[in-house]
Amino acid sequence: MFPPLHVVILAAGKGTRMNSNTPKVLQRLAGCPLLGHVVRTAHTLEPAAVHVVYGFGGEQVPEALRGLSVDWVHQAEQKGTGHAVAQALPGIPRDAVVLVLYGDVPLTQPETLAPLCRAAAQGNLALLTAELDRPEGYGRVVRSGGAVARIVEHKDANEEQRGIREISTGVLALPAARLRDWLARLGNDNVQGEYYLTDIVSMAVADGVRIESSQPREVWEVMGVNSKAQLAELERVAQRNHAQRLLDAGVTLMDPARFDLRGELRNGRDVVIDVNVVLEGTVVLGDGVRIGPNCVIRDCSIGSGSEILANCVLEETAIGRDCRIGPFAHLRPGNELADRVHVGNFVEVKKSRVGAGSKMNHLSYIGDSTVGQRVNIGAGTITCNYDGVSKHRTVIGDDAFIGSNTALVAPVTVGDGATIGAGSTITRDTPAGELTLGRAEQTTRTGWKRPQKKRES
Ligand code: UD1
Ligand code: CA
Repeated sequence: MFPPLHVVILAAGKGTRMNSNTPKVLQRLAGCPLLGHVVRTAHTLEPAAVHVVYGFGGEQVPEALRGLSVDWVHQAEQKGTGHAVAQALPGIPRDAVVLVLYGDVPLTQPETLAPLCRAAAQGNLALLTAELDRPEGYGRVVRSGGAVARIVEHKDANEEQRGIREISTGVLALPAARLRDWLARLGNDNVQGEYYLTDIVSMAVADGVRIESSQPREVWEVMGVNSKAQLAELERVAQRNHAQRLLDAGVTLMDPARFDLRGELRNGRDVVIDVNVVLEGTVVLGDGVRIGPNCVIRDCSIGSGSEILANCVLEETAIGRDCRIGPFAHLRPGNELADRVHVGNFVEVKKSRVGAGSKMNHLSYIGDSTVGQRVNIGAGTITCNYDGVSKHRTVIGDDAFIGSNTALVAPVTVGDGATIGAGSTITRDTPAGELTLGRAEQTTRTGWKRPQKKRES
């Protein structure tokens, strides 16, 4: 039987070089805090528990990530990685396998970690190492006769050791009982005066425990974020990975380098996404959906066959099938659009339900409204939903026709099949099937003369 897996994620550090008031592990990569990526990866390994050691930034970190199912462990003072792991020990049973990850190393893949856990389950100490062209700053893997002898931190390394290109990624897995024993014996007699987790490697050698080292498939899997420059670099890696996965799934990306997914995309077949599209939160795109250039879409579902034209901003809206949105449309949160709805340029829709086949093609604001089916809303129509204190609803019946430049002063109901003359201000309910006008009557003053400019004499 596989021993229970306990993942310990170290996230107590300050991240001085980020120059930010936000704790480092809360900085966002692909729309998700760094620590969120690591926790998600940890959960894919189906662990018995995930322990997150936090410290700098105080309760900000657990509060920001309250939704995660993890065991939060506080490290009051940052005395080193060994000390940090020791804080999690009370929650880890002796028969467990422990995997140590870092809250600021967001892109390690589960396929890289699973073999480490298997090696540790057999009683070994499993290390993830990497060959770097520029190993400065990292702990170096010192080998003797090919076998790992110990890890020397950069600051403690001599000239010769600094020449070693194999580095410790910090990620390791081992049996909990061994970890407990070795952590208890750690000292802090080193340049930084810290309790180094990496010192357990030489203890393992002394105790005759086998050390297995392995490398990730890609170097970016073990790259950490210490600066905004590194964050930006990993953001590109994450986006390239997203794009590759979507291309493999059959999505057409007009330019994979100009596509950003900051959340999750669920796509049907033959989805086409033009350049500079940003998708946030959870976005669902049905079969054949086309997204034009420069659209920002957050937490929306878009039905099959619908097309979003260029330059739209869509938020928290459910769009039916075969709809046409944009160009330049703004769907604010809380809309439900049925099938074949058209929303055209410079139209803003908020908290509204729009029935099948209804159209609002130009320059309108429809807010807090229920619009029936096959309704035509003329250019410049505005729902006056706010009286300065409260919001009120507008209800427009099926087959209504709202003339251009109509102001619908809510609360108000337009009956089924009603016609509203252009330029009307509608303040009372209008009857079904009738023409209602709410505007000054047109008059002509015959014989009226336009004033003339006097000629200078
Ligand atoms: C560590 C490793 C080094 C490795 C490198 C890889 C040690 C001693 N060194 O060095 O061998 O090459 O990672 O990136 O382990 N942390 C805590 N509490 C603490 C100290 C650190 O939670 O008291 C957390 C930090 O937030 C960070 C991680 O542990 O997420 C690593 O700590 P850091 O001080 O950055 O270690 P490095 O010097 O980078
Ligand atoms: Ca580091």
